[in-house]
This record gives sequence, C-alpha cells and structure tokens, in this order.
Amino acid sequence: MDQRFHDHVVVITGAATGIGAAAAARFAAEGANVACLDTNEAGNAATVEAVLAAGSRGLGLSCDVRSRDDQEAAFAAVMDEWGRVDVLVASAGIFGGGPLAEVPVERFENIVAVNLTGLLVSNSVVAPIMTAQHRGTIVNISSMAGKTSWPNSAEYSATKSGVIGITRSAAMELGPHGITVNAVCPGNTLTAMVRKVATEVGSSLGMTADEWLEMRANDTALKRLAQPEEIAGTIAFLASEDARYITGQAIEIDGGLVLS
Ligand SMILES: NC(=O)c1ccc[n+]([C@@H]2O[C@H](COP(=O)([O-])OP(=O)(O)OC[C@H]3O[C@@H](n4cnc5c(N)ncnc54)[C@H](O)[C@@H]3O)[C@@H](O)[C@H]2O)c1
Repeated sequence: MDQRFHDHVVVITGAATGIGAAAAARFAAEGANVACLDTNEAGNAATVEAVLAAGSRGLGLSCDVRSRDDQEAAFAAVMDEWGRVDVLVASAGIFGGGPLAEVPVERFENIVAVNLTGLLVSNSVVAPIMTAQHRGTIVNISSMAGKTSWPNSAEYSATKSGVIGITRSAAMELGPHGITVNAVCPGNTLTAMVRKVATEVGSSLGMTADEWLEMRANDTALKRLAQPEEIAGTIAFLASEDARYITGQAIEIDGGLVLS
C-alpha cells in the first residue's frame, strides 16, 4: 500500500471498533503513527495491536469524549510521545432512537454529550495544536442522518446535523492556518452500531433486525450496505495531499441511498 502518511500522527476517537478501528488500520497500513482513544479499553488494545502488526507505532489511550479533562490529557499524551498531530478523526459516537413521544431527556442529553459536545471538544482541543503547526486535517464522522432524517431517530439526526454545522464553521475558522475540516456522512455501515439500529428501529417498524438491514440495502443504488473499510478509504483520502483543496464539506458515502 502507498505510504501517504509515513510518520504522520493520526488521532482517532472511537478507535476501538467499527469505522474508527478501520480508519486506524488504514492509516497504519499507510505508515502513520496512530493514537487510539476510546472508553472500550479491550477493543482499543486490539486496535493498537493491529496498528503494531502493520509495522506502525500505536498508542492506546483511555478517553471518554464526554470529559474535556480526558480529552486534554489524551492529546497531551500524544504531544509528549510524538510532538504533533497531523490528522484528527472524530469517530466516537452512539445511536439513540425511538418514537418522539417517548424520548427521555436524559437519553437525548447523553447522545448530545457524546456525538456533539464530545466532537466539538475534540476539534477545539486539536485546533491550537494544528494552528501552531500551520497544517492539519480534521475529519468528523457525521451520517446520512445528518443530511436527511428518518422516523424514530430524531435524537441521533439532531446530533449528526450538528456535526456538519461544527465542521463548516471550523473549516472557515481554521482554513487560514492551512487546516482542512471535513465531515463524512456514511450510510448504513456493517458495524456493531448498525446492528443496534437495526434492532431498535426495525422493531419500532414491526421488522426483525435482518429484515430492516435487507430493506436498507435494497434502498441503495448498489443494493448492499457499506463495510467500515470503505468509509476508512474516504477518510484517508480527505487526509491526503490529493484533498488539500477540499474543506467545509460533508461528503456522502452511502452507496446511492439518498441521491440529491
Ligand atoms: N455504522 C453506521 O451505519 C454509521 C452510519 C453513519 C455514521 N456512523 C457514525 O460512525 C461513527 C462510528 O460508529 P461505528 O458504526 O463504527 O460504531 P461502533 O459502535 O462500532 O463504534 C463507536 C466507537 O465509539 C466509542 N465510544 C462510544 N462512546 C464513547 C465515549 N463517550 N468516549 C469515547 N469513545 C466512545 C465506542 O466504544 C466504539 O468503539 C459514529 O460517530 C457513528 O455515529 C455510523
């Protein structure tokens, strides 16, 4: 594989599983040093193992993105170890959904704390580091649910639309410092999260999880759901030299689910 990120430093939140883990593997395969931040310590350790097995350097850091202190400590540890941050991938996220009339405020506040406030803090903590370097790339993980909406997912959709707003504003603010900021908007991707979504949203529609996943696959032009590695490929492209003139965008990776 090309070594587009040889010796670059990449920080990934939510690196233990799914899209974050796939991004860690992709950046490691292309030569990057990868710092993996997550609350799932066992999963995070497995991701770091994969980074090391690819011949790259890896750092596993326990970090709850809901805590600014945790995030500041994690970025400080990365700076102590490697002295710079070239790429931030903000992938930590959770799904919460259900009928609107039954949304518990505590559940909404928690999903906002992880998906929106947590991501804002990641962007905020890395901004001065990248500004001092006069260079950097941030890739925020939004969702097709940030571009459009479906029933029974108002909470999730609200946070993912908010991620696009943060991305646009950060791109304007950080662009003069040579920093690009983009979001990616995956469609349904085969991770633990989509299986939770399939169970919860499927049951609210009277479907099994498998029936819901099959329906969603059939809704796409490609007639299948995404693999996390396919999302990682676009994340890596956005962090590459070929994408230096792309900023402030929210790029759909949905197999042709929503054609606008
Ligand atoms: N899977 C999909 O269909 C899909 C589609 C669109 C967008 N997304 C987004 O992609 C991102 C990754 O999701 P995924 O599908 O890989 O799911 P996943 O559940 O496999 O991964 C999410 C990771 O975030 C971590 N995490 C959760 N809360 C955290 C916290 N408070 N602090 C630190 N880490 C935390 C989890 O431990 C996990 O490792 C999420 O932001 C999700 O909303 C997923």
